[in-house]
Amino acid sequence: MLRQALLALSDSKQARDLIMATPVTRDVVARFVAGETADDALTATERLISDGRLVTIDFLGEDTVDPEQATAVTEEYVRLLGRLSEADLAARARAEVSVKPTAVGLGLADHGEKTAQENIARIATAARNAGTTVTLDMEDFSRIEPTLKLVGELRDDFPDLGCVIQSYLRRSADDCAGLTASGSRVRLCKGAYQAPDAVAWKTRAEVDRSYARCMRILLEGHGYPMIATHDPRLIRIAGTKAGVVGRDASSFEYQMLYGIRPVEQARLAAAGAQLRVYLPYGSDWYGYLVRRLAERPANLAFFLRALSSRS
Ligand code: FDA
Repeated sequence: MLRQALLALSDSKQARDLIMATPVTRDVVARFVAGETADDALTATERLISDGRLVTIDFLGEDTVDPEQATAVTEEYVRLLGRLSEADLAARARAEVSVKPTAVGLGLADHGEKTAQENIARIATAARNAGTTVTLDMEDFSRIEPTLKLVGELRDDFPDLGCVIQSYLRRSADDCAGLTASGSRVRLCKGAYQAPDAVAWKTRAEVDRSYARCMRILLEGHGYPMIATHDPRLIRIAGTKAGVVGRDASSFEYQMLYGIRPVEQARLAAAGAQLRVYLPYGSDWYGYLVRRLAERPANLAFFLRALSSRS
């Protein structure tokens, strides 16, 4: 209930304006977001890489309704990839980028799919020139078919384009089964959006069981699974299953969000696993923040405490 109410907040303009204007929100945002500028993202990336972690950078923004904005987001990514290359963080340290299809035009009323495809191809070309990769985030339920279609079409030219599967959807094990070819980069997460009951698993236990099922399919396949969860039980199962199917540490990776379970991130990296941090930056952090608050009531309590201690 609380999760649903919070996720509904991400669509409310009034709530958005109020929360973004509250100065103390910035302290909470700083826990989950590296900063507002590409400089902030590069500084955080260098720090994480020197700590033995991998990084995927997300320029915050979603639901773009204006083609010029979609172009501006694309250009920000192209510039960012150029800077990662100059700083020797792309090819050598494998810093990559994550892109939300709606940030680069998927939701535009006219020619959304075509615009997103062209913009993602530009970003993927810049990534290739820099010696690194792109992963397409998965957004709400209505974007799944168009996003998977984009992935299918773009992989002809960019076979290393990564995609995301969300285990809260009933269809996800089937989607995973279709994504196990050699070189197929798939990030598996639980899912951070709301979806209709008819298509989504309802309870946490069902979502977790679905995650374990999807993970088995990906680890048994020939692709490159990216196990994106902070859940200690699923992380243990992943390690065990990878051993059983004879995968070495370089053939899959764990992924966690910036600012969440940093001690566990360090533990996995020190144990020889590949651990990638999803690192968001930018000023359009509202939707991302609300999803992080919705995932964990303690985050909301932290936010409310911060608010009341300043009032
Ligand atoms: P779960 O929510 O059960 O949490 C397990 C434990 O992790 C908690 O008990 C707590 O200790 C810790 N934890 C989890 N979330 C926390 C938080 N917000 N604050 C503090 N502690 C927390 N989703 C999506 O729909 N599309 C996408 O493209 C992506 N992309 C993505 C990339 C990466 C690298 C990650 C790690 C996650 C995503 N997600 C996502 C988000 C994902 O779907 C999910 O909402 C969160 O990862 C939380 O789920 P967990 O698997 O961590 O489990």
